[in-house]
Amino acid sequence: MAHTKAPSQCVGPEYRPDGQKPTATVSTEVSHENVHILPQTSQLIALLTTIRDQKTNRADFIFYSNRIIRLLVEEGLNHLPVVQQTVTTPVGRSYSGVNFQGKICGVSIMRAGEAMEQGLRECCRSVRIGKILIQRDEETSKPRLFYAKLPEDIADRWVLLLDPMLATGGSALMAVDVLRSHGVPEERILFLNLIASPEGANNFAQKFPKLRVVTAFVDQGLDGKNYIVPGLGDFGDRYYTM
Ligand code: URA
Repeated sequence: MAHTKAPSQCVGPEYRPDGQKPTATVSTEVSHENVHILPQTSQLIALLTTIRDQKTNRADFIFYSNRIIRLLVEEGLNHLPVVQQTVTTPVGRSYSGVNFQGKICGVSIMRAGEAMEQGLRECCRSVRIGKILIQRDEETSKPRLFYAKLPEDIADRWVLLLDPMLATGGSALMAVDVLRSHGVPEERILFLNLIASPEGANNFAQKFPKLRVVTAFVDQGLDGKNYIVPGLGDFGDRYYTM
């Protein structure tokens, strides 16, 4: 498996000189306009360090993953169109601002994607959330759609597609096909994930150049079992069972 060289960077507050800051591995850059990587702040790197650590217990894994999920949702929402809105404040002055335009929904790729639903609900009250289950067919070894339950008016909505790990992208690409077959245009899909492999990010960018991927980190590559490396192991196992 081809791995990219891990870039490293001094991490810490700007007021500190580089010599007084520790270095850390930061996200690999990708040259696709539709792949947005969260700013590699010291907060984000510290959160990722905790959830990557094999010694982190389940309660902490959930807590710190949820914090990253919240950052991803907040950044994802920045990609939605807004319209001008002027309001009057309690002191009688007018403020010229914006409001979101259009309806949204979430769609989680089961099971790991369901871990991201609460973070979306915390930012978007009463948001509709659909689910897609894709599993590897034992006979063909190819991803197969087992279940899809989507809001009936999904074609009129922006869709935040949720899956924490973008490895080869096989399931997520199939999930996008399911959304498109329900009338959602590619440009109205935002795919949110915590860690992506360069292969997964490239596959998405090539197949769906108008869809936006928002990720916290692009890692170095995949191992022989298609786990992301250095990665964090099996996200669903660590969030739900370990
Ligand atoms: N899914 C995971 O949970 N982890 C990986 O490394 C790849 C896919």
